[in-house]
Amino acid sequence: MRSLLPFLCLFLARTKGAVASDPSMPFMVYMDQDHLVCLKWGFDNLQGNIVFKLTVNTTGWVSFGMSPNGGMKGSDIVIGGLGPSGSYFSDRYATGNAMPLLDAQQSYTLLSLTESEGQTIMTFQRSIQACDDKDFHITDEPIKLIYAYGTTDEISYHGARRGTKEVNLLNFKIRTSLPNLNYLSATVENITVPPIHTYYHCKVMKFPNLNTKHHIYQIEPVIEHHDIVHHMLLYSCPSFVAQTSDKPCYVGSMEDTCLGVVAAWAVGGEVFEFPENAGIPIGGGDSDTYYRLEVHYNNPNLATGRIDNSGLRLYYTSQLRQHDVGIMTTGVLPFNHIQYNIPPKAPQFHIYGFPVPDLHMFAVMLHTHLAGRKVRVAHYRNEKQIDFLGLDDNYNFKIQQIISSGNIKTIKQGDEIAVECTYNTVDRTGMGLATTDEMCLAFLFYYPAIKIKSCVSHPNTKFLSNSSVTDNIDNAISEPPYTTAQVCSILNISHLVYTYMIMYYNIWH
Ligand SMILES: *[C@@H]1O[C@H](CO)[C@@H](O)[C@H](O)[C@H]1NC(C)=O
Ligand SMILES: *[C@@H]1O[C@H](CO)[C@@H](O)[C@H](O)[C@H]1NC(C)=O
Ligand SMILES: *[C@@H]1O[C@H](CO)[C@@H](O)[C@H](O)[C@H]1NC(C)=O
Ligand SMILES: *[C@@H]1O[C@H](CO)[C@@H](O)[C@H](O)[C@H]1NC(C)=O
Repeated sequence: MRSLLPFLCLFLARTKGAVASDPSMPFMVYMDQDHLVCLKWGFDNLQGNIVFKLTVNTTGWVSFGMSPNGGMKGSDIVIGGLGPSGSYFSDRYATGNAMPLLDAQQSYTLLSLTESEGQTIMTFQRSIQACDDKDFHITDEPIKLIYAYGTTDEISYHGARRGTKEVNLLNFKIRTSLPNLNYLSATVENITVPPIHTYYHCKVMKFPNLNTKHHIYQIEPVIEHHDIVHHMLLYSCPSFVAQTSDKPCYVGSMEDTCLGVVAAWAVGGEVFEFPENAGIPIGGGDSDTYYRLEVHYNNPNLATGRIDNSGLRLYYTSQLRQHDVGIMTTGVLPFNHIQYNIPPKAPQFHIYGFPVPDLHMFAVMLHTHLAGRKVRVAHYRNEKQIDFLGLDDNYNFKIQQIISSGNIKTIKQGDEIAVECTYNTVDRTGMGLATTDEMCLAFLFYYPAIKIKSCVSHPNTKFLSNSSVTDNIDNAISEPPYTTAQVCSILNISHLVYTYMIMYYNIWH
């Protein structure tokens, strides 16, 4: 077996240079009503950079800024253009409604400045962190963006050619106004939640026939009881599941084979809208497909008589987008009745699974249960880590949601993905106490869709529930006072995909 050491050092090699191509800028808004001023952007949390591309229908000067209140005073502004003597660009700061002053420290880098068909296109980059006290501090809160432009390269009062728009740059939720609002409703109906701590309800259903292919572009949760609905997943079923049903999940029935994730929502999640060039395909050829809605109820107070009708709305359109979206399940999942026990008092517990897909990823949803503290989805090429596909060092079970990547991450054939979950079980004494369903999953949202739905590993419980240690990895995890055990198993489910997994766990010595 080859060295596993690279997988254990989940730091990012800072190899990527400044990028100006569109995959690095998946987000776009028009800043004005007339669609003359367009802003595209993207960011890379790991390198800490944010890239903007401002396109304005003018051959004069253009400017963009971030403002504390929507006005000029106190704004961090860049001004640029392509004039008779070439391009000009500067980082400025406005002290009032007057020409912004040049910053002593030029924090923005101009990547390109061109004019074409009457438009000026200015691409520039800044670190997300402010470099000096004149730079606006970019957070994942809505920010008032301002713009202005002139008709010539002589920078003077902009008159009415100005405006402001509030945008959450780092946590952007696309909001398009759509011509129709058709949706498919996937909800349970009048489920009586039993007085048990954890209950999974599964409803297998068929959607109304859509004769032609459509695209799902938005997923909206419809939650009746926020205090007990913990997560919901919608899966497509293989063709041999051809019957509706409404019963507890995972009781050893055929429906358990419906594992192609279509939509996901978990506590704290919100509406999710797909990128404008992609949607989940539905209808047409697969109109006979059955779907399984799984609702996980968390009822720690063992309340009785709770009746629930929660579910998901899948908004769809017949205006097909360029790409079909696929959602791939990666990570480690307890399967059927296999109990997956986390060693007690194990503050660090790492799990790695390695699928080998080929895709453009734009969003990720990380999922563990209560004991999860960190989830990291590392991306490797040629045995070197090149990026994270998902990263949450402060994983909070209560605020799980589909997270848009700041840029579109390309996973090439042969790349490897490691899903790592760190659990904290220091408050637990018994083996697997209330954690028999602990899981470590990353749902990768990508396009174009490929047939592979799932690349999961499942734990070998024989080893997991065994606290003896087989240390046969060369110094793999060396941080004392942990020791290491390795568990390898092969999963081969005909309708899924051949995959293999390697798993480590650290046991308190
Ligand atoms: C802006 O310019 C582009 C390129 O010339 C053109 O296609 C577009 O229609 C213009 N937009 C408006 C609102 O005039
Ligand atoms: C659910 O309960 C409501 C209120 O009792 C009732 O009106 C409705 O018909 C029920 N729906 C189903 C599908 O049983
Ligand atoms: C624990 O693991 C060892 C090998 O590491 C094996 O010999 C033993 O049978 C295991 N015990 C149980 C109860 O599975
Ligand atoms: C997995 O399935 C493939 C084809 O379905 C087969 O060739 C291969 O031998 C299987 N591997 C294992 C370990 O069962």
